[in-house]
Amino acid sequence: MARNSTNWNRWFAFFDERAKRPMPRLDTTTDYSAVPASLARSLAVFQLGESGGGTVVAQARQSRHVDEPAIYADCLERFVAEEHRHADLLAMCVRMLGGDLLRRNWTAGLFVFGRRLMGLRLKVLVLLAAEVVGICYYMAIAAKLPPSPLRQWLSQIVDDERAHLEFHSAFLRSQITSPWRRRLFVVVWRLVMTAAGVVVMLDHRRTIRDLGLGRLLLWDRWMAIADLAEKLVVGTASPRVGPEANSAWGRDVDSAVAGH
Ligand SMILES: [Fe+2]
Ligand SMILES: [Fe+2]
Repeated sequence: MARNSTNWNRWFAFFDERAKRPMPRLDTTTDYSAVPASLARSLAVFQLGESGGGTVVAQARQSRHVDEPAIYADCLERFVAEEHRHADLLAMCVRMLGGDLLRRNWTAGLFVFGRRLMGLRLKVLVLLAAEVVGICYYMAIAAKLPPSPLRQWLSQIVDDERAHLEFHSAFLRSQITSPWRRRLFVVVWRLVMTAAGVVVMLDHRRTIRDLGLGRLLLWDRWMAIADLAEKLVVGTASPRVGPEANSAWGRDVDSAVAGH
């Protein structure tokens, strides 16, 4: 069966346009003293996770699994740059909350170590799981914050992660060329998503408690977004974000979350 083709040129144009966004300035006017201190540590862990990711680009450039490896690798390069922008934004968030950046952390280390061992397809699957975790977690935190640059930046990161989720889904969809590959994806995806959920729940339990995010609600949202991602990959939901419109997919997420 032939690969499902993807128009990577459109994704390249999409990322290229977004790369023009200027970085905001550090917010020194808002008082964040009422925000629990555990949030600074939690965002510092995510800041580490958003900082890496360069090896996937080189791997994609050599890949035999993609129709146009050079263009796909260029898209991945832009994607990695966008994740680094998130790392810069989160570093400012940590500073604004009076916290310190981390040099290492066990969950971020596990994520990087695991990714180094993997081939391109499994690596993209893990990146997709990270998008689901990020969307759900940043969204839940933003909803608990008062209107502020901190809340605005986290919401902007959520919008970016939604597009990333669509981008990685497009790649994985292009790799599902037979029913057994589809079954394999579903099994591995559910395992990785469950493991990622458990690890994040454990490592960020203090923030989840201090902000009153609700463990069960968070888990349900996680699984709802993971389910949407799975449907995008296996082709039972239609892609509507990225080069198209972010908002339609956002509404899909919101209704899936509300229905859980
Ligand atoms: Fe990110
Ligand atoms: Fe992302």
